[in-house]
This record gives sequence, C-alpha cells and structure tokens, in this order.
Amino acid sequence: MNLKGKNVLVTGIASNRSISYAIAKKLNEHSANVIISYQNERLKDRVLKLKDELKITLDAYQCDLSNDSEILSMKKNIVDKYGNLDGIIHSAAFAPREELTGKYLDNVTRDGFSVAHDISAYSLTALCKIFKDSLNESSSVVTLSYIGAQRVVQNYNVMGIAKASLESSVKYLADSLGERKVRVNAISAGPIKTLAAAGISGFNQILNVYEEKSPIKENITTEDVANVTYFLISNLSSSVTGQTLYVDNGFNIVGY
Ligand SMILES: NC(=O)c1ccc[n+]([C@@H]2O[C@H](COP(=O)([O-])OP(=O)(O)OC[C@H]3O[C@@H](n4cnc5c(N)ncnc54)[C@H](O)[C@@H]3O)[C@@H](O)[C@H]2O)c1
Repeated sequence: MNLKGKNVLVTGIASNRSISYAIAKKLNEHSANVIISYQNERLKDRVLKLKDELKITLDAYQCDLSNDSEILSMKKNIVDKYGNLDGIIHSAAFAPREELTGKYLDNVTRDGFSVAHDISAYSLTALCKIFKDSLNESSSVVTLSYIGAQRVVQNYNVMGIAKASLESSVKYLADSLGERKVRVNAISAGPIKTLAAAGISGFNQILNVYEEKSPIKENITTEDVANVTYFLISNLSSSVTGQTLYVDNGFNIVGY
C-alpha cells in the first residue's frame, strides 16, 4: 500500500543501526513524506548524512523530547512548512547506564527513575499532547517497547518499569485520541544491537537466549520492525489501536 501524501515524523535516529533508521527507510520507500528529528547538536552532522543516504528530502529537526518548548517549536516549524501530520514514530529511550546493570533495587535512584520515565515514557505523551491538533483524522502514532515491561529481564531494571509506563500510556492515549480516529500502538521488539542496546549489561547474552528459545530460531532485524511499523502507519491497520504488538520471532509466548 502506497503512503503517498502522508506526512510522518520519525524521531530517534542516531545511527544507521537505529530502529528508526530502518523505519524512515521503509516509509520513504513507500512514498510517505518523511520528516525526521534527532536529539541534539552532537548528532546533527551524522543524522544529516543519514538523511541524504536515505534520500529523504524533507527537513530534519533538532528536538530534545524531554523539553516541551523544543517540541512546540518543532511542531510550529513542521506545520508551517508541511501542514499537519498523519503519523508519528516515537523511538527514543534513555536511562543512566549505571542503572542498567545488577539488581534493580541495588542500583535504582530517584533521579534515574525520574529521567528514565520522563524520556522513555512521558515523551510519547508530550508528543501527542503538543501535536494533538496538528494530527489529521486517521493518523497513526507508533512507539517502541520491549518485553522487559512485562517480565523481569536481568539488567533492564528501571527501563523495564519505564516501558511498562509507556505501554500503559499507549492505552490511555489511544482512548484520548480515538474520537478523532487517531490510533496509538506500541511494537514490542526483540533485542537488536543498537547504540541504546549497548548500554544494557550482558546484551549479547540476551541475543543468544532469543536465538535459542524463540519459536523462529533467529534474532529479529530492524527491517522486521520497520515492516510492522509500515502496517501500523498504513490504513491496513485502521481498526488497531491501544495495542502492544510483539515483533520478536515469537519469544514472548515461550515459558522459560
Ligand atoms: N535495540 C533493542 O534491542 C530494542 C528492543 C526493543 C525496543 N527498543 C526501543 O527502540 C527505541 C529506539 O532504540 P534503538 O534500539 O533504535 O537505539 P538508538 O540508540 O539507535 O535510538 C535511541 C534514540 O533515542 C534518542 N533519545 C534519547 N534521549 C532523547 C531525548 N531526550 N530526546 C530525543 N531523543 C532522545 C537517541 O538520540 C537515539 O536516537 C527505544 O525506545 C528502545 O528502547 C530497542
């Protein structure tokens, strides 16, 4: 299905391994008007190169998603230049590295808990709140979660709790925006080696467990996630909202 005419904001590109890089590529290949955003000045040059590599012609905006005034100013710039959006991809998360190791209770702090929730969960709500009136009817919002929201995954710790908040936010946001036929869903992706994943202790071990235990004995790729995101952005998923869809080669069904 062609996404021609759909304006989609893709947040969270940091490298060509980012899940959002594969998503931007897929949506662009299906003729969406892809607008990208990146976190800060430090990433600017790299992201602009990636934008060229992807042949994305619309602008890239710098926006720290923990800062409402930066989101507001990005919204104003986007709407002035391109009009309303039809889709938002929220693909950002952060927790202090020292908290993504060992036992949760030993390493969690009030500040770490707060920053993990602010950036990894509240930022989705902030995007929806600020773009609410600039989303066309039948828009689709997609975020990225992980099974650590539902089960204890060693070292994932405070991020698991923030992802649980994110998955619950998806349901409340779907309810808040449903009257205007705006849909909100999460993809719970299997583990993929990205910059964010590198911050989690023992990540290679997680990859090995997935490969061994999932019904489809492989790890997933960023393209697998991009394909399902494409479905969620397209009108093919017009009756799907408030869901967390697992894109994990079936790992979540296995008792282990
Ligand atoms: N890689 C995995 O194994 C995996 C699995 C499931 C879910 N996820 C989720 O996918 C999403 C994307 O992560 P990724 O694996 O592609 O890694 P990544 O490091 O490529 O992307 C994470 C992005 O978050 C951005 N970010 C962090 N703080 C931000 C802020 N304050 N404002 C704006 N952007 C900010 C970073 O700049 C980066 O672009 C995250 O939500 C992550 O939790 C990843």
